[in-house]
Amino acid sequence: MSADSDFYRTLTMVIVGLGVFFVIIIVAANLVSSDDDTEAKVDPRVKANIDESIKPVGMVNTDPSTAGAAAAPAAASAFDAGAEYQSKCFACHGTGAAGAPKLGDKAAWKARIAQGDGIYTNAINGKGAMPAKGGHASLSDDQVKAIVDHMISNSK
Ligand code: HEC
Repeated sequence: MSADSDFYRTLTMVIVGLGVFFVIIIVAANLVSSDDDTEAKVDPRVKANIDESIKPVGMVNTDPSTAGAAAAPAAASAFDAGAEYQSKCFACHGTGAAGAPKLGDKAAWKARIAQGDGIYTNAINGKGAMPAKGGHASLSDDQVKAIVDHMISNSK
């Protein structure tokens, strides 16, 4: 047996050994990381919960047929004159601060109501110590009118 053939036999064994080792690694890696395997083990109810928890907070609706439909009724019904009065007008009209006519004070409102539509104009543009729209420029004219109607119906 020459040194050469010894060398080739050893070399062949090493290469075959590496090949077997390689195949074992591939199989083991597949067993550990197979997606299908792990998906199948998760209860679908648990998976639904996870999907719900990790879904994006705000999703953009790019479908024009549903985008407006969902938002419009919500905006229309969201305006509550009574609640808006409480948050935006009560500070003065609930307390009489700055000489504001108090809600429910019939004497203070009588002459103001008697002027008709001028009362809306004064609420929208401001009057005396009252800033335009009570300082809430974000209110539309119609919204101010709705709050004034709420105030009037509670003060006569
Ligand atoms: C900073 C205090 C203040 C706030 C806030 C305020 N008002 Fe007034 N408001 C007044 C005062 C003061 C007057 C009396 C003005 C005058 O007669 O000189 C008044 C008067 C009015 C009048 C009677 C106007 C008239 O023709 O005599 C209306 C209506 C009215 N306010 C509506 C509102 C509405 C609606 C809001 C909330 C969106 C509001 N106000 C918020 C101070 C305020």
